[in-house]
Amino acid sequence: MSAGRPPGDPSAGAAGAGGAAAAPALGDALLVAAAAWAAVRAGQSLDRALDEALLSAARPAAGAGESGAPRTGEAARLAGAARDLAAAAVRRAAMIDFVLGRLASRPPAPAVAALVSVALAQLMAGSYTEFTLVDQAVRAARALPQTASAAGFVNAVLREFLRRRAALETEAAGEPARRFNVPAWWLRRVDAEYGARAHPLLRAQLEEPPLILRVNCRRATVAQVLLRLHEQGLAASQVGTWAIWLHQATPVERIPGFADGVVSVQDAGAQLAGPLLGVAPGMRVLDACAAPGGKTAQLLELVDCHVDAVEIEPRRAQRILANLQRLGFTAGQARVVAADVMVPSTYWDGKPYERILLDAPCTASGVVRRHPDVVLLRRESDVAKLATQQAKMLQTLWPLLAPAGRLLYVVCSVFAEEGRRQVSAFLRRQPGARRIRLPGDDPAGLQLLPCTTLATAVAAAQPEDSANPVLHDGFFYALLEKN
Ligand SMILES: C[S@@+](CC[C@H](N)C(=O)[O-])C[C@H]1O[C@@H](n2cnc3c(N)ncnc32)[C@H](O)[C@@H]1O
Repeated sequence: MSAGRPPGDPSAGAAGAGGAAAAPALGDALLVAAAAWAAVRAGQSLDRALDEALLSAARPAAGAGESGAPRTGEAARLAGAARDLAAAAVRRAAMIDFVLGRLASRPPAPAVAALVSVALAQLMAGSYTEFTLVDQAVRAARALPQTASAAGFVNAVLREFLRRRAALETEAAGEPARRFNVPAWWLRRVDAEYGARAHPLLRAQLEEPPLILRVNCRRATVAQVLLRLHEQGLAASQVGTWAIWLHQATPVERIPGFADGVVSVQDAGAQLAGPLLGVAPGMRVLDACAAPGGKTAQLLELVDCHVDAVEIEPRRAQRILANLQRLGFTAGQARVVAADVMVPSTYWDGKPYERILLDAPCTASGVVRRHPDVVLLRRESDVAKLATQQAKMLQTLWPLLAPAGRLLYVVCSVFAEEGRRQVSAFLRRQPGARRIRLPGDDPAGLQLLPCTTLATAVAAAQPEDSANPVLHDGFFYALLEKN
């Protein structure tokens, strides 16, 4: 498969993050993104859909990412470009469906619809010149047997969109659920829970997420890391106590200090978990839902404690080990256990934990910027199902906590059923539990929204230099103490 490089158009290689290295041909990336888009529309997660689309793209490039190995060179660039294109389409799925419905007299075959959809998203985003985009989409259509005969149709639909663009986009955006790319039930829920803040929150979900690093405070200071980044020509600024915003998306293998464990990638909101849990040296800590290990690693960076990191999926548990190894931690500091945290006999020696971090499975409604497929894959019934699971986890883990011990409950959700209502119900059921107020929280817990900055959400967690406040993901935190 190859759709060919666009001749002489400087924007032709603009897809993909942060590279002076040669970018893949746009047409090739469009083909991979279209295959992934079709799989997401059939119910697959974007990450998995992209992995499978890249494997079946029949590119013999070295390090093509099989068996979870990191991609390198050309394969990595194609993966990055295809991810950007597919994510842009997923972020605009509702608008695209509407526009395509207006432009095509009958639904095109799935492979054709997928290619047109991904191309329409790029026309809406304006990342390429119109000529380049249409030309590459048509070449891509010709490159595959299942779309070759529809190359004329692809050309006609894209050109018609460009002619009627303003009217079509205005009409499509008239419906808020379509404009914000969420199902009607999601819009109703956010409207009811957030009132005037609902639309800013939903608008923020459509943005591309910032790339935030966490500095490993055992290995470097924020100032040292900033200096190293600036020396390499990477614009960056401090946006949290250990958080650095890298202004341009950059593949991890090109971030100075990543491979040798000086920095990790972690959202600024997620970086509050370590300091909020308040771990002292020597404490026994349970990280109950630990993979890929971002919060386990932060706890170990902050203080000499012992962490039991429990993760139900063995393959994800391996990722915790890989992360800890990269950061230089040993088996004596963290015990990674692939187990169901709901069955304590499989990982617990009976000695109470002084701290428990419960980063519970949730709807992920707070991280839509990073995982735009969430809005397409979630059903309304998932909210109650996940809330029930979270309540059972709280109930199961509470007896494992020592007297005067603390449990930090976290979800990357903006829905009250998983956040403040969940915690209020737990406190009613559990008279020996009390909630410790956190800086910046309200009577029920700390709800970070993707439309606020740390500056407004957590005044006490601000770095001295907050000249560059950056939006963080949507997290809910509640710190519970056992009396
Ligand atoms: C929100 S993620 C945790 C993210 C992690 N704390 C971090 O910061 O990198 C939730 C994790 O819980 C795991 N999980 C779900 N149910 C579990 C269970 N019953 N026991 C242990 N882990 C579970 C999921 O596989 C998933 O990896």
